[in-house]
Amino acid sequence: MTFDRKIKIAPSILSADFANFGQEIQAIEDQGCDWVHVDVMDGHFVPNLTFGPATCKAIRPHIKTVMDVHLMIAPVDPYIEAFAEAGADIITAHIEAGPHIHRTLQAIRATGKQAGLAINPGTPAEALIPVLDLVDLVCVMTVNPGFGGQKFIHSQIDKVRSLRSMIGDRPVHIEIDGGITPETAPLVTAAGADVLVAGSGVFSGGSVAKPEVYGKNIAAIRAAAEAAQ
Ligand code: DX5
Ligand code: ZN
Repeated sequence: MTFDRKIKIAPSILSADFANFGQEIQAIEDQGCDWVHVDVMDGHFVPNLTFGPATCKAIRPHIKTVMDVHLMIAPVDPYIEAFAEAGADIITAHIEAGPHIHRTLQAIRATGKQAGLAINPGTPAEALIPVLDLVDLVCVMTVNPGFGGQKFIHSQIDKVRSLRSMIGDRPVHIEIDGGITPETAPLVTAAGADVLVAGSGVFSGGSVAKPEVYGKNIAAIRAAAEAAQ
């Protein structure tokens, strides 16, 4: 993975057909997505359960782009190795998931994978300052994590702007997760984001039988995002 700040669209397979991940992934990649975002939830850190390393390992061969794994789990450290072995390219942990985020980020990097750090809507941007040299990606949550299809929280746009200036010249992506549509995408790319996760914004209205809808949704988000970058 080479670093650039070109807009990247990362559909979240949380909104895909869970019985058909292989074909869903092929459809979104054929339709032009840049990364595949994989939401892991534990029913403890967030009030919802999805899947773990075994599912990640099973879907890995279907992903030709980038496997972007978002861990909404606590604790995180005991599972890092398993997600690395499952083939994640980026492993993102939450700053709120435990008291030792510095150790967690070191552990992710020790596996040779890229380290992401996610931040909930209620956590201030400044909390990330001490560890910015240990991350490859910052994921700003623009919904409270746990479910797809929630409303974008506008108060997070200022946080994106602050993080962009705190990051400075470091090769760190700013990813936005939650409520991304062609209406909200330009607000965050204007503030400095370059990776846009979209679940319902990509999958709604489409299916593996109607993949062109995914393509239309991806293109609409990308066009709106690029126009504001
Ligand atoms: C929320 C997840 C998101 C979610 C986004 O907890 O981390 O990735 O799937 O879904 P939309 O785009 O529908 O808000
Ligand atoms: Zn996510």
